[in-house]
Amino acid sequence: MASAAVESRRDQFLATVVTNSPICREHFRLVLSLPVFPVAAPGQFVQVACRDLDEPAEVVEIDCSPGRPIALSGDELLSPTAMLRRPFSLAGRRDLPEGGVELEIIHRVVGVGTDWLSRLRIGDRVGILGPLGNRFALPRADQTALLVGGGVGIPPMIYLASQLAGQRAVAFAGAVTRDLLALTLTDDARVEEFARHGVETIISTDDGSLGFGGYVTQALERWLDDAKMNPGDAVIYTCGPELMMKRVAAIAGGREIECQVAVERAMACGMGTCQSCCIKVRKPDPSKPPLPGSDWCYRLACTDGPVFHGRELLW
Ligand SMILES: Cc1cc2nc3c(=O)[nH]c(=O)nc-3n(C[C@H](O)[C@H](O)[C@H](O)COP(=O)(O)OP(=O)(O)OC[C@H]3O[C@@H](n4cnc5c(N)ncnc54)[C@H](O)[C@@H]3O)c2cc1C
Ligand code: FES
Repeated sequence: MASAAVESRRDQFLATVVTNSPICREHFRLVLSLPVFPVAAPGQFVQVACRDLDEPAEVVEIDCSPGRPIALSGDELLSPTAMLRRPFSLAGRRDLPEGGVELEIIHRVVGVGTDWLSRLRIGDRVGILGPLGNRFALPRADQTALLVGGGVGIPPMIYLASQLAGQRAVAFAGAVTRDLLALTLTDDARVEEFARHGVETIISTDDGSLGFGGYVTQALERWLDDAKMNPGDAVIYTCGPELMMKRVAAIAGGREIECQVAVERAMACGMGTCQSCCIKVRKPDPSKPPLPGSDWCYRLACTDGPVFHGRELLW
């Protein structure tokens, strides 16, 4: 099979829209094609330029004269254009037999950038930067992978499921309500995105409109109680709202199960420059830098993460 994966560092690419179709009330599946894209893995993300690349960026002049307070009115932040790229997890990647790569992103419309994305049509051009961040460590062949995704944390779980061929895995997918579940149900009530990789799915909705009625964390706990596994037999992977992931990490910690957490801190640059995505972590050795003598330090979610061990995060 021809592979358009190149072993190289992150880079900027111009992609073409293959599909951009609604999956549920607020989510779209966007498939982008590129002639080449570096090797990528589940957990990694891309920064997407959510604006027309042919339109010049709006220039706002700010008075920075010495001795005067900087006159920021707020208008700079209320621009109708998404000036900064927006981060999105990779939900899948296909290396096409005829050459070229397709990347899949599932996005929820929440603001100016994702609204722009939702209006993309087949053949439109989109600038992306990636692949960014670290990746999930895959489970051992004898371990069960438990993929716990909530809301826009479900997409990286789909990519992870695609890399678990032949391995036992169960996906837990949580949404507030049925209309906000960004997954496709088959006629026999399976979830297509996971079933195609042989992964069973347990759906939960907070309002009980589909599947287990309650939080996805409760569905996970119930499953773990029934399964009665030894701690080393499973690895939990999670992505979603921070409160949800915190609870998943606590459940895993309480049962001594390894837990890998993909955090989705708000990010500006996505590549370690702006420091906007810092997150507090436990240091393995307090005597070592940074901050010798302290048992914690900050890490960057974009370059040290987004994947961290549940036990190292000090939320
Ligand atoms: C590593 C990473 C992976 C992500 N993967 C996905 C994905 O696969 N699918 C998806 O739909 N979204 C994902 N997100 C979130 C996505 O980046 C934001 O929803 C997007 O930037 C919003 O852009 P916007 O211009 O539409 O909204 P804005 O106008 O910028 O913001 C709209 C609202 O959303 C809030 N918001 C923006 N970013 C975040 C964030 N990271 N966490 C919490 N609230 C936020 C803002 O505070 C504001 O209230 C990911 C974020 C990160 C950091
Ligand atoms: S987003 Fe800029 S440093 Fe992480």
